[in-house]
Amino acid sequence: MRRAIALAARGLGGTSPNPVVGCVILDPSGEVAGEGFHAYAGGPHAEVVALREAGERARGGTAYVTLEPCNHTGRTGPCSAALLEAGVARVVVAVSDPNPKAAGGAAVLRRHGVRVDEGVLAAEAEEVNAAWLTFMRTGRPHVTWKFAATVDGRSAAEDGTSQWITSPEARADVHRLRAESDAVVAGIGTVLADDPRLTARVPAPPRRTPVLRVVVDSAARTPAGARVLDDEAPTLVAVAEDAAVPAHLSHLAVRLPRAAGGIDLRALLAELHRRQVVSVLLEGGPTLAGAFLREGLVDRVVGYLAPALLGAGPAALGAAGVSTITEIHRLEFAEVAPIGPDVKLVLRPKSPVRPQSPKES
Ligand SMILES: NC(=O)c1ccc[n+]([C@@H]2O[C@H](COP(=O)([O-])OP(=O)(O)OC[C@H]3O[C@@H](n4cnc5c(N)ncnc54)[C@H](OP(=O)(O)O)[C@@H]3O)[C@@H](O)[C@H]2O)c1
Repeated sequence: MRRAIALAARGLGGTSPNPVVGCVILDPSGEVAGEGFHAYAGGPHAEVVALREAGERARGGTAYVTLEPCNHTGRTGPCSAALLEAGVARVVVAVSDPNPKAAGGAAVLRRHGVRVDEGVLAAEAEEVNAAWLTFMRTGRPHVTWKFAATVDGRSAAEDGTSQWITSPEARADVHRLRAESDAVVAGIGTVLADDPRLTARVPAPPRRTPVLRVVVDSAARTPAGARVLDDEAPTLVAVAEDAAVPAHLSHLAVRLPRAAGGIDLRALLAELHRRQVVSVLLEGGPTLAGAFLREGLVDRVVGYLAPALLGAGPAALGAAGVSTITEIHRLEFAEVAPIGPDVKLVLRPKSPVRPQSPKES
């Protein structure tokens, strides 16, 4: 199963709005006969790729699959049927499918006499599919907030200059994070201050379509000529429902309800969910990131800390709904790794973020 999870991870960034899935088939003697992963939506499922490689050796063998085999005919046929046809005797599943349209594969296999074991390495398999599982279970995209800062938590100097605090290695990793996401979100403050392109500039993009760029801009202030409006990738500008939208934004603007601080962020995420955006990379700035945290809408934090000190200047995070210590946002480290001269931190909220009820979406 650990090998199947590693295979699943190869699909990250390519499969949306589908999950990532990996599969390993053992022949009856326990030798690996076939391996596969789901590489892109509409492409063959992991089980089908692995079964093709295994051929007749799958008969009487065992399939290890990171997600319950689907029982649904979409762009491809049901994997439960493919496993039955191949004569697999046992299927080991890490995570059950929360998608009501596709679930039921385990039950069908059992009905046909296949032994099915579920829950094997479930936590590790959930981790690799965290974005899709959040998308399916909560009705909103999975949100990663990324920041770069000095070790004293500053993201710019006193005069506002900030390029570049972290190393080229850390910045290249941010491009990889963007490439793995369906959408990159930034506040109008960042667009006006830095004029970022927000594109994923990686040597071999895993996805077939460029990452969607989203500017959160209630008063429709994104200037004509802003680099985020160039032709390199599609862009949405989330504006308030009563905003006066200038002509250069009229075809990009999505009108959303207002809330404290600007746009209603839950309405924004519901709109992105509707557009099949499974994963969002929130690139700030501090004001917008604070608002997402306050609303309990951050599922993962990725920080790049440079071995440098500023002492003054804007903090990486703005007001996040904490007025006293008991309201602190507690996180857990999932990863701490050197990256060039910097340190990369991956963290998750200590208690799972509150799922959004269908009423709220
Ligand atoms: N170190 C890093 O990783 C990093 C990353 C990004 C940016 N930055 C730095 O951050 C600075 C800009 O940050 P910023 O805090 O001024 O701006 P920001 O967070 O990029 O944007 C804030 C603006 O977003 C709009 N907004 C709309 N809906 C909102 C909501 N519900 N909650 C909060 N804001 C909402 C508001 O403007 P309206 O009211 O007009 O809608 C608000 O003023 C720049 O200097 C940039 O260099 C650093």
